Amino acid sequence: MVAPPAEGEVADPLTWFGSPGLFELEIGSGKGGFLLSRARSNTDRRFLGIEWANKFYRHAADRMARWGMTNVRMMRADARDFVMHHLPPACLSALHLYHPDPWPKKRHHKRRLVQPDFANAAVRAIKPGGVWLIQSDHAEYFAVMREVLDQQVEISELPWEQTGVDPGEAWEGTNFEIKYTAEGRTIHRAAYVRQP
Ligand SMILES: C[S@@+](CC[C@H](N)C(=O)[O-])C[C@H]1O[C@@H](n2cnc3c(N)ncnc32)[C@H](O)[C@@H]1O
Repeated sequence: MVAPPAEGEVADPLTWFGSPGLFELEIGSGKGGFLLSRARSNTDRRFLGIEWANKFYRHAADRMARWGMTNVRMMRADARDFVMHHLPPACLSALHLYHPDPWPKKRHHKRRLVQPDFANAAVRAIKPGGVWLIQSDHAEYFAVMREVLDQQVEISELPWEQTGVDPGEAWEGTNFEIKYTAEGRTIHRAAYVRQP
């Protein structure tokens, strides 16, 4: 639905939607369940879902098209590269990162998305007052993500309920959340706000 920017190019999300408005990014949208429900209940906001795996990207893009979602764009790209090199500063009202791949083997930890350099770039892309929400079923990676985000001086933790992203009634859950909740796994959540 939107092509990844060329090397050296900074994206201009406004041009994708034709009018200004609050803009949210979901990284690793998978089949797009969360993105669809969030975009349907916030039609005044604009959304980008980034998904690397072609099969899931296509699934989510088709789903958005079927629902006629004019406030959602999907991009097939490496979110790490996109956030670090192509996202303009202070453009995001919310960054959603739910169940990022945990790469549980120690020798694969370097493949994890949430590392200090990525977190620096992500925080830079969040506007003052904007939020970063993380969720995982993997306790160890969740703790590591918390440590990395806690090191970021421009953000501070806040209760999830204060983010405007309701994990209560309106929250249908991400596909992984639904699957793992059914298996009885604990879902870990944290939310951060960029200092106004
Ligand atoms: C474990 S799944 C979670 C999917 C969804 N967020 C959920 O909670 O149901 C992780 C997803 O992130 C995608 N992904 C992993 N690394 C990525 C990257 N660097 N850029 C974009 N997508 C990525 C994977 O292809 C996969 O669909």
